[in-house]
Amino acid sequence: MPEISSTLRNLTGGGSDGWEVFARARQMIASGTPVTELTIGEHDIRTDPSILAAMDASARGGHTGYAMVPGIEALRRKVAERIEAATGVPTQFDNVLITPGGQAALFAAHLAVCRQGSKALFIDPYYATYPGTLRGVGGVATPVQAHPEHGFQPRAADIDAQADGAASLLINSPNNPTGVVYTRKTLEGIADVCKKRDLWLISDEVYETQIWEGEHISPRALEGMDERTLVVGSMSKSHAMTGSRCGWIVGPKDVIAHLTNLATHTTYGVAGFVQDAALFALNEGAELEARIAAPFERRRAITLEKLKAQNTVRMIPADGAMYVMLDIRATGLSGEEFANRLLDERHIAVMPGESFGRAAAGHIRVAMTIEDTAYGAALETLCGFAASLCD
Ligand SMILES: Cc1ncc(COP(=O)(O)O)c(C=O)c1O
Repeated sequence: MPEISSTLRNLTGGGSDGWEVFARARQMIASGTPVTELTIGEHDIRTDPSILAAMDASARGGHTGYAMVPGIEALRRKVAERIEAATGVPTQFDNVLITPGGQAALFAAHLAVCRQGSKALFIDPYYATYPGTLRGVGGVATPVQAHPEHGFQPRAADIDAQADGAASLLINSPNNPTGVVYTRKTLEGIADVCKKRDLWLISDEVYETQIWEGEHISPRALEGMDERTLVVGSMSKSHAMTGSRCGWIVGPKDVIAHLTNLATHTTYGVAGFVQDAALFALNEGAELEARIAAPFERRRAITLEKLKAQNTVRMIPADGAMYVMLDIRATGLSGEEFANRLLDERHIAVMPGESFGRAAAGHIRVAMTIEDTAYGAALETLCGFAASLCD
C-alpha cells in the first residue's frame, strides 16, 4: 500500500489520545460489568419528538435532495437573527454558513484563517479534538495554559506571550472541560490581544444556552471584533441533536463566501430535512432550550450539595456547560491514576483532566449526563473513594 499523507498520520500527534479510561469502561460494559459512565458530552434525553416530527414532515415532503450548499436561506436568516439579538452586531444571512455540526465548523473556520505552518493558538484545558483540528489544517497547534488558580480563566498576557507567528486563537466559553464561563474582563483582554497582534479569533460557543451563573458574552459583540471573529455554533448541545450534525459559522461575509466554496468541495452542505428540523427547533425559542439545559443545572446543584459534606474533592466553579471539573490533587494521585482506580475499584468512569491538556492535571472531568438520583449516588461514591485515599 502506498503511504498515507503525513497530515493524517500526524493528526492525533501520536501517543495517547487520553480516551483510554473511556475505552476501558466500554470494554467492561461489553463484558458484562455494569459501569456508571460520566465520560462523554451526550445528553441522557433524546432529540425532542416535536423536532423529529418536523424532520419527518420535511423528508416526507420531499426535502431529501441536495440542499443549498451554504444552508437553506430561512435557517441562515434565523441563525443571523439569533446572533444579532445576542451581540447587537448587524448580522445577515450571508454572514452565516450552515455546517454538518460544530466540529466541521471548527475545521473549516481554521482552514479559512490559518496560514500553513503558522501558529494556531488554543486554550488549555481544551476540548479533545482541538489540537488535531489545528494540525489537520496545517497549523502549528500551540496551547496557552489557563490555570486552576485563576479559575481556568485565560490571561491576556499569557496569550500575548505566545502570539509571535500566530494567525489565530481558538477559545471556548462556556468551556468544555472546565464548565467555566469567561468573564467580560477575560474576553476584553482576549479581544485586545487579538487586535494588537492581528489575530483571528475562533469562538466556539456550542454551549451558549447552558449558563448557570453570569452571562454568555460572544466576543463578536466586543468593539472591533466582528471583523476578526468567526463564531462556531451547533444544534448538538442546545437542542440534544448531536446525531443530526447541524451547526454554523458566523463571520464576515467575504470569509463566508470563501467557506461556501470550501463546502462545495467538501461536505456539499447539510441534509435539507435536518436543516428544516433545526429551523423548527430554533423557532421554538428559549423555552425548549431551557428545558434541554435544565437537567445539567439541577445536577450542578447536586454536585455542590454532595461536595459540601467533605473536603478532599474541590469543585472548580462550573458556571455553564454539561460538565464539572473536580480538583483531586489532595488525594496525591494524578487525574489519570484517580480515574483508572475509580473505574477499577468503584466502576465509575470519568475523564482524567490530563486528557484535556497539561493545565488540567490532577483534575477529573465529570459529565453530568445520567439521571439525577444515580448521578448523586455516583458523586457520593466518588467522594468516598477520594477520602479513602487520604486515610
Ligand atoms: C467544545 C466543543 N466544541 C465543539 C463540539 C462539537 O460538537 P458538534 O460537532 O456535535 O456540534 C463539542 C462536542 O462535544 C464540544 O464539546
